[in-house]
Amino acid sequence: MDLYPARQRLCRSARALRRSAITALAVAAIASLPLTLGIAGAQTNPASGDPWWKHAVVYEIYPRSFQDSNGDGVGDLNGITQRMGYLQGLGVDAIWIAPMYPSPQKDFGYDISDYEAVDPQYGTLADFDKLVAEGKKHDVRVVLDMVLNHTSDKSQWFIDSASSRTNPKHDWYVWNDGIAADSPGLTAIQKKNEHEGKVPPNNWVSIFGGTPWEWVPAVHQFYYHEFEKEQPDLNWRNPVVEKACFDAMRFWLDRGVAGFRLDAIPTLFEDPQLRNEPETGGTNAYGDANVSDIYTSNLPEVHDVIRRMRAMVATYPGDRVLIGETYLPNTAELDKWYGGEAKDELQLPMDMLIGMNGDHAKLDVAKFRQHLEEVQTQVHGSQPLIVFDNHDNMRAIDRYGDGVHNGDINKLLATMLFTTKATALMYYGEELGMPTTVPTRKEDVRDPTGLNGWPKEKGRDGERTPMQWTPGPQAGFSTNPKTWLPIPASYKTINVAVESKEPDSQLEWFKKLIELRRTSSALRDGKMTMLDTSNNDVLSYVRSTGSGAAVVVAMNCTAEAKTISLDVSGAGVAGTKVKTLATDAVSLKSTSTLTNVTLPPFASWVVSVE
Ligand code: NOJ
Repeated sequence: MDLYPARQRLCRSARALRRSAITALAVAAIASLPLTLGIAGAQTNPASGDPWWKHAVVYEIYPRSFQDSNGDGVGDLNGITQRMGYLQGLGVDAIWIAPMYPSPQKDFGYDISDYEAVDPQYGTLADFDKLVAEGKKHDVRVVLDMVLNHTSDKSQWFIDSASSRTNPKHDWYVWNDGIAADSPGLTAIQKKNEHEGKVPPNNWVSIFGGTPWEWVPAVHQFYYHEFEKEQPDLNWRNPVVEKACFDAMRFWLDRGVAGFRLDAIPTLFEDPQLRNEPETGGTNAYGDANVSDIYTSNLPEVHDVIRRMRAMVATYPGDRVLIGETYLPNTAELDKWYGGEAKDELQLPMDMLIGMNGDHAKLDVAKFRQHLEEVQTQVHGSQPLIVFDNHDNMRAIDRYGDGVHNGDINKLLATMLFTTKATALMYYGEELGMPTTVPTRKEDVRDPTGLNGWPKEKGRDGERTPMQWTPGPQAGFSTNPKTWLPIPASYKTINVAVESKEPDSQLEWFKKLIELRRTSSALRDGKMTMLDTSNNDVLSYVRSTGSGAAVVVAMNCTAEAKTISLDVSGAGVAGTKVKTLATDAVSLKSTSTLTNVTLPPFASWVVSVE
């Protein structure tokens, strides 16, 4: 599924509405600190002086689904620790672990009840420390997911807040008295939610369906929840909330994490006047009127918080990084999340514009080209972060796949992911070509969005099935035959053990490209110039360094063979001698020219030019 389907549709139909310090002295002092604070991973400042994250491959792990080490059918931290060798072998520089804090698991960890501990089903703090230490041995850094928009309703913060209007924590969440149920101009969603003669103050809808306003009789007020009702939104207009959240972040920074992926970060603030969102026509999968999110997402106030957060994180050595879950309408908005020219906000807001385009995505060459150029030229030189796959969207292999060439298409996406200048973010199983396995019966559904929206919205279980390690029992994920989500039937052939023995497998393709990205100076540092720019079937570009190293990449985004001739002279590349570095087309393995080259359907071709 799409996590934000209404928003993404909105984005396509009405982009304009869409989504939606330190002193120089201190900076110098920090830069000179020894790198001994336990931060995991390889040397922090490589010879180039670039921060580690600039060239990184970041690998998202959904901890329930990666590796179960204790036979309860649910993945855990020790399971991740056991697989560090695999991650290193793949070429991963950092893992982002989806939330593993104590949680009622209503939204599988995105409902945190304690920010400074580990959920017992995933392990202990000692296990976490072991994981970080093992990561360090394998040059794999650990990035944690930080959920700051909301907590669990079982968090002590919320329990206190909801206990009375005079509780000191009452103002930690977004409360409202509601309006009279006989007020003029009420919308359907308001009328449906009457309590004690009051209805919600506006027409807003929750991303997970229904009204985002939940009535609490004890205080005779509604609280706001952008997501499930068990995920109340924090009130970021209260400075004490910021302090509590920054303290939680420090807790993990002190334990050596390399940074954070900031969940739903554009939605920290809501319109103080709580104005009705404009309706955008039609209804969503949950049956509510589609509305815009101009009053609930990407409000300017959020940038002040991010700047302070960046300064706080910068007090730690080792280039700790802030990655944002930033679904945004265009590159100009993306640039704001870097801090524009000042570059004082997130180092890596996720660029969702390129690879997250709804369930029926198209390999649109013109769009890819335009966007890859935009993020090179329109973000003040900040570092792009590309992502095609995550735990909220149908797997890219199925979104982009045509049902016939899915394997080739997955390889093509990987080619783009690893050969541009962008930091690459991938999702466990993407390297195997694991398919999305959507539940077929409501009783099997675990994800709240699927439970709320069935049968129109089947939820996100399909992209969260257990990692497929072997063709043996439970795909090597668990010794327990009852795994938290079923093992997809595809595990017999799509798994690490089988694919590591097949030279043409997805896994070997991913490994090869990641290795090239690491070892080729052109792929690592070269500027990127688009080639053959009027061709809407084949995407091609050259990465070249001033010192003459050049790599050309071409991807046929169609189901027919296409012949191309590429002229690299305009990009300042003098050489004409071509050597194939990687291709999934046998016919291209020994091609030695850039003229009249025929790419089979969905073929990828990466060559050096000398
Ligand atoms: C975005 C996360 O990626 C998603 O899984 C979660 O349900 C929502 N934010 C709410 O935290």
